[in-house]
Amino acid sequence: MRITWLGHSAFLLEGTQKVLIDPFLSGNPNAAKKPEEVQADIIFVTHGHGDHLGDAVEIAKKNNAPIVCIHELSVILSKMGVNAIGMNIGGTAKFDEVKITMVNAVHSADFGEEPISAGAPAGGIVEMDGLRVYHTGDTDVFLDMKLIGELYKPDVMLVPIGDYYTMGITGAVKAVELVKPKVAIPMHYNTFPVINQNPEDFKKAVEKRGLDVKIVILNPEESYEI
Ligand code: NI
Ligand code: MN
Repeated sequence: MRITWLGHSAFLLEGTQKVLIDPFLSGNPNAAKKPEEVQADIIFVTHGHGDHLGDAVEIAKKNNAPIVCIHELSVILSKMGVNAIGMNIGGTAKFDEVKITMVNAVHSADFGEEPISAGAPAGGIVEMDGLRVYHTGDTDVFLDMKLIGELYKPDVMLVPIGDYYTMGITGAVKAVELVKPKVAIPMHYNTFPVINQNPEDFKKAVEKRGLDVKIVILNPEESYEI
């Protein structure tokens, strides 16, 4: 599987299928690609905030790809003319080559410029080609991450470190300790001044804690192969 960071919380997982997560591109000064340059078979959106839903509707229509998200957000997106697959926390959406299990996140979740309720925030475990990638969504650290680690044994964890809207480095180190992935890739930092963060500080803090986790720091548009 090739994991490409498109900036912020947007990732493209390429294996048998192309799974796109939280494609916030056109409003992101650090985005690696324009929405029209991205190809996807399945799109997963963790919650309705603009920096996660991003360009999902446009990309879904262009690629004829479904958007997997929480039920309430799927109702809103369906009215915008996309194939939105609504599910809920603890459930698994099964496709031929891909499974997406929705898990908790500790955050808020609404939609639009005059926000309307759009269900709960979520994270997701994407399973493809025998590998599992845990995208936490926007979240603080929470103790049930230990349970997520035990149940789904993620190979890779995509973890926010930017602080302010999510956990910062201290929380992210604890999150990695609870989940115990093989590899962790930091996200949700340096997009806006308020979430400026040095990812090397995260890497050093994980190493100082003695955790058996490889921290992979990507620049937008860089990939990691696993
Ligand atoms: Ni958010
Ligand atoms: Mn966010």
